[in-house]
Amino acid sequence: MGRTVLVTGGTSGIGRATAARFAADGADVVITGRRPETVEPAAAELGVRGLACDATRPGEVAALAEELGGRLDVLVNAAGGLPPVPAAGTPPLEALAQELTASVAANVLTAALTTTAVRDRLASGGTVVSIGSIGAERRGGSYGAAKAALAAWNLTLAAEMGPRDVTCNVISSGYVADTNFFRGAMTEERHQALVEETLLKRPGTPGDIAETVFFLASPGARHITGQTIHVNGGAFTTR
Ligand SMILES: NC(=O)c1ccc[n+]([C@@H]2O[C@H](COP(=O)([O-])OP(=O)(O)OC[C@H]3O[C@@H](n4cnc5c(N)ncnc54)[C@H](OP(=O)(O)O)[C@@H]3O)[C@@H](O)[C@H]2O)c1
Repeated sequence: MGRTVLVTGGTSGIGRATAARFAADGADVVITGRRPETVEPAAAELGVRGLACDATRPGEVAALAEELGGRLDVLVNAAGGLPPVPAAGTPPLEALAQELTASVAANVLTAALTTTAVRDRLASGGTVVSIGSIGAERRGGSYGAAKAALAAWNLTLAAEMGPRDVTCNVISSGYVADTNFFRGAMTEERHQALVEETLLKRPGTPGDIAETVFFLASPGARHITGQTIHVNGGAFTTR
């Protein structure tokens, strides 16, 4: 029997590539996204099951967990992204409050709600991978602050799930092209600047991150937990 895998934010980009990777391995994959109009075509194209669920909404996440039922081997928290830009003319403190609140909701609440809703179903030998960002390491603004909080939240999760032999890690992703992350706002100049920051002189691909998720969910990674794994082409390096 194949593994059961839930990928939040599986309609595009990194989540979609991750869902495809597990599906190619014969896993029973479920993807989510906020809207049926993105979830249904993506699920059909991938040959997986799709369920619409806004992971910032507790009621929808509870319904998702109920709908899934059964055991879960792998949870990938890929849902997330940049906050909406506050409307022009919004007072500065109000704009900051909106931006920070939206960043935390999109990037921390999504993972925390989904993980909490399904954690009792995670099987021994299971894995939780949450997608963080290089923005947590440098110049990430409210989005980076939220991704840093995601990594901090993962530490407690890993401690709680460790005795059940469930590993919990964050992949801190560098710039990945071919996603909807930048909502069409990426310019050629910005793209080149981000590529130039890498040691490999290329952007990441959704597949680069998907392969790392797949490794973290593999038998060879059973002693890796409570970590932030940096996948960024060398744009941010560690000792
Ligand atoms: N691309 C990059 O350069 C980059 C770099 C570092 C980190 N990341 C992180 O990588 C993750 C995946 O992003 P991506 O680059 O693949 O961008 P993407 O193509 O925009 O994918 C984001 C996915 O999340 C879903 N989503 C967003 N909010 C959601 C919510 N509240 N509930 C459920 N689903 C939600 C979107 O689906 P719907 O729109 O259909 O709801 C979509 O499937 C994000 O956490 C992002 O912060 C990306």
